[in-house]
Order: sequence, then C-alpha cells, then structure tokens
Amino acid sequence: MKDLLTQERSITLEVEAALNKQIMLENQSCHNYMAMASWCRQNGFDHAYEFFMNQSDEEREHMKKFYRYIDNVGGKASPGKVNPAKEDFDSFRQVFEYMLEQEIAISKSINGLAGLAEKFQDYSTAEFMDWFLAEQREEVYTARRILKLFDIMGHDGIGLYHIEKELANIEYKE
Ligand SMILES: [Fe+2]
Ligand SMILES: [Fe+2]
Repeated sequence: MKDLLTQERSITLEVEAALNKQIMLENQSCHNYMAMASWCRQNGFDHAYEFFMNQSDEEREHMKKFYRYIDNVGGKASPGKVNPAKEDFDSFRQVFEYMLEQEIAISKSINGLAGLAEKFQDYSTAEFMDWFLAEQREEVYTARRILKLFDIMGHDGIGLYHIEKELANIEYKE
C-alpha cells in the first residue's frame, strides 16, 4: 500500500475516487428532489414542494462538503455528471417510496466509503464520514416515517392533506 500521507496529498487515489463518486450521488439526489418537488406542486401538494426543495438544498450542501473535503486534503474534486431525473410518479405515496429507495442507496454508499477509509487506515476520512452516517440515519428515518403516515392516515384526499401538513413536523431524535 502506498503512503497515505505524502507531501502533496492525504488521501489515497482509491478513497478520492470513492469520494468523487459520492459527489455524483449527492448531486443526483439534489436533482431528483427538485423533480419530485415539481411533481408535488403540479399535483397540488405545495407543502411537499417546500419539503423536497429543502431536501434538494441539503443534498447540494452534502455535495459541497465532499467537494471541499477532497480539496482540503490535497485531492482533486470533480463535480461529475448527473442523469436526467425521474419526473413522473404514479401517486403521492410513490414519490416517498422513491425517496426511501434513494436514501437507502446513499446510506449503503456512505457505509462503503467509511469501510474503504478504514481499510486504508485513513482515519481522517473515516471520521469525516461520521457526520454522514448520522445524517443518513435521519434521512432514512424520515422517509420511513412518512410512508408510515400513509398507512395510518390512508390514501384518500383528507389523509393526503394531513400527511402533507405533517411533513414539516417530522422530528428525528438520537
Ligand atoms: Fe445527502
Ligand atoms: Fe439525503
């Protein structure tokens, strides 16, 4: 294994590549959440519009955290590319199923990154990942909680109306 710490950089190329891949995932979810917001607005769910626009902002912040980290430790950050976002959904519930799928995929990726950092004895990156591990616990909880609300309140108009209003009140505690 090559030296982790050199005069130029403090991360291996493998970890750098994995961090850059994570930048693409965060960017993609930033994009996806905007499309989900639009679908909600088009279908009369204005609270959900705000919820997903906020989610989108958060994903951009996540992307920037990774970006800055790579640059801070002497690597080369890359914004990568994004694919077109999914813009059509069958139902209001399906938007949140998509959210849960996306957050689970991101959690797996973050977990993999933490493992990779440990493998290279890169404890700085491993520690940097702690914040994201905690963030993903919250994101996955939020998506699961919303899907539970559909089970509790039902799928008729009044149920959906109440679920929507509840979005701003979901609280995660550790
Ligand atoms: Fe994220
Ligand atoms: Fe997220």
